[in-house]
Amino acid sequence: MARDIKKLVSELTLEEKAGLCSGQDFWHTKAVERLGIPAVMVSDGPHGLRKQDQEADHLGVNDSIVAVCFPAACATASSFDTEMICKMGETIGNECQAEDLSVVLGPAVNIKRSPLCGRNFEYFSEDPYLAGEMAAAYINGVQSKEVGTSIKHFAFNNQEYNRMSCSSEVSERAAHEIYFPAFEIAVKKSQPWTVMCSYNKINGTYASDNKWLLTDVLRDMWGYKGYVMTDWGAVDDRPQGIRAGLDLEMPGSGGINDKKIVEAVKNGELDEALLDAAVERFLNIVFKYVDNHEKYADAVFDRDADHEKAVDAAGECAVLLENNGILPLSSDKKIVYIGEYAAKPRYQGGGSSHINASKVTSALESAEAKGRCVEYVKGFPADKDELDSEEFAKAIAAAQNADVAVIFAGLPDSFESEGYDRTHMRMPDVQNKLIAAVAAVQPNTVVVLHNGSPVETPWADKVAAVLEMYLGGQGVGEATDRILYGEINPSGHLAETFPIRLEDNPSYLFFPGDGMKVHYAEDVFVGYRYYDTKKIPVRWAFGHGLSYTTFAIDNMQVSSESLDDNGEITVCVDVTNTGKVAGKEVVQLYVSDLNGTPERPAKELKGFVKIALEPGEKKTVAMKICARSLSYWNEELGDWYAPGGKYLLQAGDASDNITACHEISFTTGKVLPLKIDGSTTVGQLLSHPRTAAAMAQILEAAKANSPFGEAVEDAPSDGDGHGGLGDAETASKMMEEMMKGMPIKSLISFGMGDSGLIDMLMNL
Ligand code: BGC
Repeated sequence: MARDIKKLVSELTLEEKAGLCSGQDFWHTKAVERLGIPAVMVSDGPHGLRKQDQEADHLGVNDSIVAVCFPAACATASSFDTEMICKMGETIGNECQAEDLSVVLGPAVNIKRSPLCGRNFEYFSEDPYLAGEMAAAYINGVQSKEVGTSIKHFAFNNQEYNRMSCSSEVSERAAHEIYFPAFEIAVKKSQPWTVMCSYNKINGTYASDNKWLLTDVLRDMWGYKGYVMTDWGAVDDRPQGIRAGLDLEMPGSGGINDKKIVEAVKNGELDEALLDAAVERFLNIVFKYVDNHEKYADAVFDRDADHEKAVDAAGECAVLLENNGILPLSSDKKIVYIGEYAAKPRYQGGGSSHINASKVTSALESAEAKGRCVEYVKGFPADKDELDSEEFAKAIAAAQNADVAVIFAGLPDSFESEGYDRTHMRMPDVQNKLIAAVAAVQPNTVVVLHNGSPVETPWADKVAAVLEMYLGGQGVGEATDRILYGEINPSGHLAETFPIRLEDNPSYLFFPGDGMKVHYAEDVFVGYRYYDTKKIPVRWAFGHGLSYTTFAIDNMQVSSESLDDNGEITVCVDVTNTGKVAGKEVVQLYVSDLNGTPERPAKELKGFVKIALEPGEKKTVAMKICARSLSYWNEELGDWYAPGGKYLLQAGDASDNITACHEISFTTGKVLPLKIDGSTTVGQLLSHPRTAAAMAQILEAAKANSPFGEAVEDAPSDGDGHGGLGDAETASKMMEEMMKGMPIKSLISFGMGDSGLIDMLMNL
């Protein structure tokens, strides 16, 4: 049925329109029965349904329906598998139809600025391109079932400390290069039905009041078509919100804010047309769901079938960080599992994404079900940092008597959660001590990690293998079992760097601010962009991940040696499985600016492909790059810009393992603005196309006439006729270099011009 939403809006009273701009209760929008507008339900998300039938809350405290808990974003991002996360989205979309939920509140795509952010487990990556591609694939999956998503938290919600009021102080450049692209890519590739604005302020203005954010960037620049809702309770000034482009307030304010909208329209402070536009955007989405829901009358939430999908997804996400060959385990070995996570895995994080899981399989249960020869010793508790000397001693004795000790370690729930940040990056002391003690008596020690964000691993060089399972959802135990015993070949790669120490992280000095403001002073140097550029050694680099087989990535071929503002280059590399078992490799494409442009990261991810290969098999993978892949956000231009020149394309299976490169050249028609005044330097004029020729001419003349010029003429030669330090040519070059930094106002002081010349330069 084609609906005329504009007409519907015109039939609403002012009060009804204002009313539709806020929720009825915690999870429902409002109805206007006389016009056939129904209330619809929304629900958290993102990695499964937290549909609350009874007592509602936004912190995951009260119960919700029994549902399936899929791997959290920290894990799914490590899969680098857009097909897998799209399928996960389809499954969740179907569950929504079965449960009559119109929107699932996710994905959460905020950038992992610091390993300490309490909610990192729910976020994808420190890299915006990866986060954007994963988010777009998830959204396309959910929305293919005609259910909406709510990409969140827009924007700059990169910490939990004072998240509801703190101001993220961030440059326009870092905004566009680091904190926006995940949203931008998702908007452009998947048009999420809704966007959830964040609680925090941005450079002093609340996200919910922020026209630059919600209209200028989101709608005008990126072409967003859906509606914007608040995070729960994120409203500040409601009429200003409507002006800024904020459509729906959740969960509502008992009518208080609706009245403010009505008053503002009546007294002329708010243009009613803006309110109409908000209501129209909102109703478009409501009916997009309602008008299609009937088609899904047969949708079933099959918890058992979806559990199996959760197990498979967890298997795609795991990252093998270290392995000296001990993994996969062989079934005839005597194995001891140590650590309570073996029996009770930590599989999800705390807060609004908390799922009432239908069934949780542990690695221990899975091993027992398969008749594996595994003994279990608790060693330490899963939920606190507490040393039980007896358990500790038992664990060491058991490790000594076994062929292999597998320690299931990680972070207790209380160590990381929505609502507060971590204060350090350490695992519980008892776990670090036990791992070190076990490794001292058992060379075949394997550590399995359950955590939502990087941890310090002082024992990393002393153990035989480390397997990162993250918060892998309710199927994580079974997936761990299959990986440990080689039924699944691990294929995840890190979506974030594991620094050696917290102090190495670029945000360390500025995170989390004083509670009122947090300065993003590291600017665009987030994650590997910083570690790489500064050459800071890390424990495990962004993109790192091992396999039970080996791969070669080589032979980079490009469809063209040069690129311009409008073109595209296809970059191909060969990938070969050089080992003995089938496996999947993640090919990553990074780009570096070779033109000496200031303040650019050493390299940035601009493409990736995950590919399955049989032993000995070779395939060619293709990735595309365009001008945007080479560009940075130029604040003067207010746009993306890449200087003409050389760029290096680099492919590998980790940011620190590049095995194929190719240099390309780039030409641009974009010209940077140049406003000339007395402080403009000779160098700036020499490098700008509008002024370069004129400045070069003036410089030549000035050199000849100035005292420097005489010095150049008189400079001695090195005697053999060749140039050398101190010869005329070198002196001339040195002078030129010095001149580049000279403001044009100073030319007079050095006898290189008069005020006529300065005026002439200023008018170039
Ligand atoms: C969270 C959101 C969540 C909402 C509803 C807020 O506290 O930040 O991510 O969707 O609550 O539960």
